[in-house]
Amino acid sequence: QPYVRVLHLAEKLQVSPKKVLSILINTEIREYNLATKIFHSEIKLVTDELGIGQSIPSVLITRRPPIVSVMGHVDHGKTTLLDSLRNTNVAENEPGLITQHVSSFVVKFEGRDVTFIDTPGHAAFAGIRGRGAKINDITILVVDCCEGVQPQTKEVIRLIKEFRIPSVVALNKIDKDEANIEKTEQELQENGLELMNIPSVQISALRGDNLDILMRLVVTESDGVNLDTDLGGNPFGFILETSKARYLGGLATILPLRGIARLGTIISSGRTLCRIKAILLPSGEKVKEIGPGYPCTIAGWRQGLPNPGLKFISAEKLVDAKRMAKVPANLWVLEKNKRKRQILKKLFLAEK
Ligand code: GTP
Ligand code: MG
Repeated sequence: QPYVRVLHLAEKLQVSPKKVLSILINTEIREYNLATKIFHSEIKLVTDELGIGQSIPSVLITRRPPIVSVMGHVDHGKTTLLDSLRNTNVAENEPGLITQHVSSFVVKFEGRDVTFIDTPGHAAFAGIRGRGAKINDITILVVDCCEGVQPQTKEVIRLIKEFRIPSVVALNKIDKDEANIEKTEQELQENGLELMNIPSVQISALRGDNLDILMRLVVTESDGVNLDTDLGGNPFGFILETSKARYLGGLATILPLRGIARLGTIISSGRTLCRIKAILLPSGEKVKEIGPGYPCTIAGWRQGLPNPGLKFISAEKLVDAKRMAKVPANLWVLEKNKRKRQILKKLFLAEK
């Protein structure tokens, strides 16, 4: 179970160790000194008492946010759904803060953070999951009720079943007259998706209907997933995408899954290296450190930019880090059928 020592927590929260210690002692849970290892619930007691919210997520998380990807056939409404989810959230919580298009973002729902990744290569993440490295915890399968089950819908059903990904079905476009919900449900059943066992909800991604129900289903599903992560470990995670910015140079959006990455931390991915010189949240806000489950964009890359889909690891032990980071983690690499592999690769690269 992840922990932090009292002294370390105080340093990170930038409050006096005495203060932290006194809060803990007042709880009378057990005995504490500056070296005591404290766990999630205790950390939460301290931060609640100090009135510190999630502004320093890396200190708080021992259970990281679930990582949710949205999949489905072309034009069934994936992007619209993500936009609606993000915008609702932006409107409610951070007015005006998010302006740029972001491919990953965190939605706050009933006090919990849920991370969405809009990576066109999400098929790749299912592949990563299959290899034991968790990235996609939950899948939302979007189906257009006017069109019903289509080839890519079947492909996603196959992935969900093969990798046993907890899933929620979003029966989309119910605002349209042509929407035929019963027929769509029947087709899903016929294609092996047991709607008795998999939660589903009728939505309109466009109008925003029932998105709160969808979020609740996602959160409920995430309760069944082990999201515990080690804050003290060497940071590691995945590269989601890369870009360039005028003053910062090459950027990579990363999804850390373990440890805390800070300014100055060295990470490596493939043949590239990065001494982190800036960390940007999807909102554009600059932070000094980032914890597991929170996507962010980092600057400071050398020797080019890393490849999306690859693992990154903190390069404290440079040799190990390089070896591990080289493991290709995309689905197309795993796909045995050559033609399929090429198609997947093309899709992944094209949408990037
Ligand atoms: P690809 O990225 O190309 O695979 O498509 P997508 O799944 O991201 O679909 P997208 O969100 O781009 O939606 C395709 C079209 O369907 C757009 O014109 C949307 O406005 C429309 N659309 C999506 N959701 C809804 C909905 O709930 N109701 C209606 N009426 N239209 C929708
Ligand atoms: Mg799209």
